[in-house]
Amino acid sequence: MGNNLLKGKKGIIFGALNDMSIAWKVAERCHEEGAQIVLTNAPVAMRMGEINNLAAKCNNAPVIGADATSMEDLENLVDKAMEHFGGKFDFVLHSIGMSLNVRKGKHYTDLNHDWMLKSMDISAVSFHKLMQICMKKDAINDWGSVLGLTYIAAQRVFPDYNEMAEAKSMLESIARSFGYHYGVSKKVRVNTISQSPTMTTAGSGVKGFSEFISFSENMSPLGNADAAACADYCVVMFSDLTRYVTMQNLFHDGGFSNTGVTQSVIEQFAKS
Ligand SMILES: NC(=O)c1ccc[n+]([C@@H]2O[C@H](COP(=O)([O-])OP(=O)(O)OC[C@H]3O[C@@H](n4cnc5c(N)ncnc54)[C@H](O)[C@@H]3O)[C@@H](O)[C@H]2O)c1
Repeated sequence: MGNNLLKGKKGIIFGALNDMSIAWKVAERCHEEGAQIVLTNAPVAMRMGEINNLAAKCNNAPVIGADATSMEDLENLVDKAMEHFGGKFDFVLHSIGMSLNVRKGKHYTDLNHDWMLKSMDISAVSFHKLMQICMKKDAINDWGSVLGLTYIAAQRVFPDYNEMAEAKSMLESIARSFGYHYGVSKKVRVNTISQSPTMTTAGSGVKGFSEFISFSENMSPLGNADAAACADYCVVMFSDLTRYVTMQNLFHDGGFSNTGVTQSVIEQFAKS
């Protein structure tokens, strides 16, 4: 049951691949809270058709394909979304991440740099492209909210996160820099949410991910935040209750980021 936190609000949600995706949960929660949404993903990711099941659950939300690296696709998406909404919208979720080198099993010290640039384009530069188009088309209402999803490997080394660490650092930096300009000119806020490791298609591409999830669970005083809890946080960030929060990287990780060690991790060592 929702609380109408997003009543009257309209937004675009990128990245719902299947029902494990963080974006999928965010779309469901936004709909529950009274928002109207447009769904989008890369055309290749929409081939399985799962996104149509989500659209049906969300009051038959339109599904518009867009490769987030293509300015042409993004322009078309924003135009079509504005046509559908009958004007501007209020929020955007960028829930996109992909590393070609991780996918192809390349070690961090042996990267293919053409692939690396492609990974940066998909996972970080696309955030800039999207906001640049939204700003030029004046597509987002005053006090609107743009969110990207990130991970703490942007600040600290997690060896198997590989080149995605650089992608997330860039994503967070773009949120700060664009957040400044979007704030000054249009009162639009831009933030990233740094989420706990979560069992999704993108997440499980990282080597040793299940073990890593248990480690993180044990290192977080509240335990790992799941995708549903992340969706709750996104709703709050899209709502009018957070109008002055901008240019921030917001940790949604059960306390992991500020924990040096926990009793439970110490006990694991005592056992061994
Ligand atoms: N799962 C985790 O542990 C975790 C933790 C912190 C942050 N995140 C971030 O959350 C976001 C969502 O990932 P997820 O875990 O829900 O996994 P997911 O695999 O469900 O979502 C990733 C999405 O990116 C989309 N995508 C890839 N290339 C694209 C392109 N060129 N154009 C448009 N879309 C494209 C995919 O189709 C997919 O829908 C990502 O930014 C990810 O890095 C995930």
